[in-house]
Amino acid sequence: MSGQQRELTMRFLAEPTDVNYGGKVHGGMVMKWIDQAGYAAAVGWSGHYSVTVAVGGIRFVAPIHISDLVTVRTKLVYTGSSSMHFAVDVKARDPMGGEERLCTHCIIVFVAMGQQVPARPVPVPPWTPTSEDDQRLAEYALKVMELSKGIEATIEAIAG
Ligand SMILES: CC(C)(COP(=O)(O)OP(=O)(O)OC[C@H]1O[C@@H](n2cnc3c(N)ncnc32)[C@H](O)[C@@H]1OP(=O)(O)O)[C@@H](O)C(=O)NCCC(=O)NCCS
Repeated sequence: MSGQQRELTMRFLAEPTDVNYGGKVHGGMVMKWIDQAGYAAAVGWSGHYSVTVAVGGIRFVAPIHISDLVTVRTKLVYTGSSSMHFAVDVKARDPMGGEERLCTHCIIVFVAMGQQVPARPVPVPPWTPTSEDDQRLAEYALKVMELSKGIEATIEAIAG
């Protein structure tokens, strides 16, 4: 498939309307940016419309200030049959100067969907990690999803 790329970067400007009660960018907006970048990365990799199935290991490390230039970087770290797992870093900096800061990181998982009605998951081109770093990232993504599936199962068992 042509045009496939493993990494994708999107940039956003934190607007005054993105503010939370403490005067910083609210977490929901950061998650929206992550979802948008993940969507662009997933459809680019798979060539199919894709849906978010899970977000795991999300950590808000530092706040984003209004008027910051925000950079969202996605890196494909694992593919299953229909799923694509991306490691996402969100960094921000004052566009008038200053250091870029890591603000949020997570793993987001998309599933490629076919065109039939109702739509069902379809296979994606595989990503095969070769370097040690890539193998570690793939293992990390799988661990995060195992943990989050485990939490779901526990909640279901408790809630009945
Ligand atoms: C995504 C969806 C089609 C999966 O349906 P499903 O019946 O679970 O389908 P499958 O069992 O075939 O699973 C498809 C893939 O999802 C993965 N998956 C399912 N639940 C998951 C979870 N909790 N975490 C991570 N991956 C998960 C499976 O591992 C499988 O991946 P693989 O093909 O690489 O092995 C369905 O859950 C859905 O439509 N969800 C809503 C998506 C949506 O609307 N997103 C936007 C919300 S903001």
